[in-house]
Amino acid sequence: MNLDAQHPLNTGLTADSRLIQAYQGTRPAVTPVWFMRQAGRSLPEYRDLRVGTRMLDVCLDPELAAEITLQPVRRHHVDAGIFFSDIVVPLKLVGVDVEIVPGKGPVLGKAVRTAADVAELTALDPAQLDTALAPITLAVRRAVAELGSTPLIGFAGAPFTLAAYLVEGGPSKDHIHARTLMQADPDAWDALMSWTADVTGRFLRAQVMAGASAAQLFDSWAGALSLQDYSRFVAPASTKAIAHVRDLSYGLAPAADAATDAPLTHRNVPIVHFGVGTGEILKEMHNIGADVVGVDYRVPLDEANRRLGGTVPIQGNVDPALLAAPWPVLEAHVRDVMKRGESAPSHVVNLGHGVPPETDPDVLGRIVELVHTVSAGE
Ligand code: CP3
Repeated sequence: MNLDAQHPLNTGLTADSRLIQAYQGTRPAVTPVWFMRQAGRSLPEYRDLRVGTRMLDVCLDPELAAEITLQPVRRHHVDAGIFFSDIVVPLKLVGVDVEIVPGKGPVLGKAVRTAADVAELTALDPAQLDTALAPITLAVRRAVAELGSTPLIGFAGAPFTLAAYLVEGGPSKDHIHARTLMQADPDAWDALMSWTADVTGRFLRAQVMAGASAAQLFDSWAGALSLQDYSRFVAPASTKAIAHVRDLSYGLAPAADAATDAPLTHRNVPIVHFGVGTGEILKEMHNIGADVVGVDYRVPLDEANRRLGGTVPIQGNVDPALLAAPWPVLEAHVRDVMKRGESAPSHVVNLGHGVPPETDPDVLGRIVELVHTVSAGE
């Protein structure tokens, strides 16, 4: 389905941006850069806005969510905004009892451990989201209107990462209950994953329809799985989740009176797939139907590119730990990441995971400047 004529990919505002060019596999003149978790606690203006408001309430306030999305773009001059929200927002909107506990993360009212728990959860109808997602649509529209030619990236949690929270009941180190359930009761697991794919896929689609120019699926905890388990118990649901946006394309027919016989070229909205500790499953993370693979800091990008077969645009992978190192150490590391990224068809500089809350925001601005000047050969 073609996005509407007002979508920034169709108006021409973002289709030729550095980010979208790189995501489509072409190397732009200047390498694009943005940071996972660029919106949030590292910014004093974010901490000021958050005072007295719970995280999920902020996510459902279109004005606040749009404003927080814009903060890092204004400050750091990054090449993309990422929509300010959270992976558990669609769970909350479909009726799951979930809160985000400061300093901890998502915590469920009740863990989903048995087939009966799965049946109770999946009785919540994902179609409810079509109206419940209205605040998300409004927030995206607002942010996109302000961003102009800077593309907005929409995002969602992959079914496994969401299921890990649902089954554990909160954050966990090794996701042991989730990994037990997939083996002990594959039918219940498949039902859980299929429902979660539908819920998270609708959240992602709403963002792209409202104006996001790319989509990123976060499977943060997929690195906890063996290749075999990932392929059997996770990959099909991730494919199902992105099917909600895989059909979306852009590229308008030339106006009837335009003196051109340029052929109409439709392109799919680019989809990025990222996880932590996923060196062993990089190829499968591409094979679920993603266009771009996000790499964490554990695998150097030239090696990641080799594992991906040399044909896949890559994103990453500055080590977040080095953000607190002396600038010469960080600078040398960023230059090394860029050098290794040259082996891939195209490269979007990012971190290997999110910005730590205690990061000095000026350091992020300095990285943006460095990436832009080094890649432009200045
Ligand atoms: O700037 C951005 O990247 C956009 C915003 C964003 C948030 N969460 C805001 C947030 C994004 C993309 C996410 C995704 C997310 N949420 C993931 C996948 C990415 C990753 O980091 O692996 C995961 C696993 C979650 C679940 C979650 N939500 C965690 C682990 C936490 C942190 C808990 C804490 O306090 O340390 C949250 C809460 C959260 N989500 C915050 C923010 C800015 C902190 C809330 C606060 O300010 O108190």
